[in-house]
Amino acid sequence: MKPKHIAIIMDGNGRWAKLKGLPRKEGHKEGANSVESAVQTALEEGIKVLSLYAFSTENWARPKMEIAYLMQLLADTLSKFTENKYKDVKLVFSGRRKGLPSMILNKLDKVIEATKNHKKLTLNLCLNYGARQEITDAVNKIIAQGKTNIKESDIEKNLYQNLPVPDLIIRTSGEERLSNFLLWQAAYSEFYFTKTLWPDFKEKDLLKAIAEYNKRDRRFGKRK
Ligand code: IPE
Ligand code: IPE
Ligand code: MG
Repeated sequence: MKPKHIAIIMDGNGRWAKLKGLPRKEGHKEGANSVESAVQTALEEGIKVLSLYAFSTENWARPKMEIAYLMQLLADTLSKFTENKYKDVKLVFSGRRKGLPSMILNKLDKVIEATKNHKKLTLNLCLNYGARQEITDAVNKIIAQGKTNIKESDIEKNLYQNLPVPDLIIRTSGEERLSNFLLWQAAYSEFYFTKTLWPDFKEKDLLKAIAEYNKRDRRFGKRK
């Protein structure tokens, strides 16, 4: 079965640039092109949800210059999703608003509003995102609702977005870890790790990951 929800940890922009003898920001720039390619491919393949890990709560520890460049690039990329070629893409946001520059928040809100009735693909942008924070925020929301006997479904309903869980989680660049991504939602996800660096990850690479997913036997603890 085709994955309904694919989540990607887009890693390796810095190493891509270094290998080419280019400044780091060139890696991020080509990485933004890979974002557009992944969205196009997801649309063509009939994927329902695409989650992209764009900036983690830990990424604030990077040099100010790099953060500023990434934020500008994010703002520019966000603008593209109001273009006609993305008329089937609905943008949603997962992360903490606090800490993000108002330039980004304004743009995010605009694009979320402009795309809210789009149906084919939900693009879940994980920005200033950390899974531990997401679970902590969910628990605090539940406490504020006055609930005491907390069920799994309460946590699920209070995550940043109420989306189907990811069937397939991809991480590029050869690293094999979650880096605080979707800890709750990944309970039964399939993982796909590739050495390909994110700026090189284009249509054929995503199709390969989907083909690999199709070979997996998902048991969910059951016995056949
Ligand atoms: C991924 O590429 C982009 C972000 C984490 C924002 P990196 O910048 O982490 O690239 P590497 O891992 O240093 O190669
Ligand atoms: C994970 O990549 C975060 C994103 C892709 C946005 P990092 O490059 O920040 O992760 P670590 O530090 O290698 O675990
Ligand atoms: Mg990295």
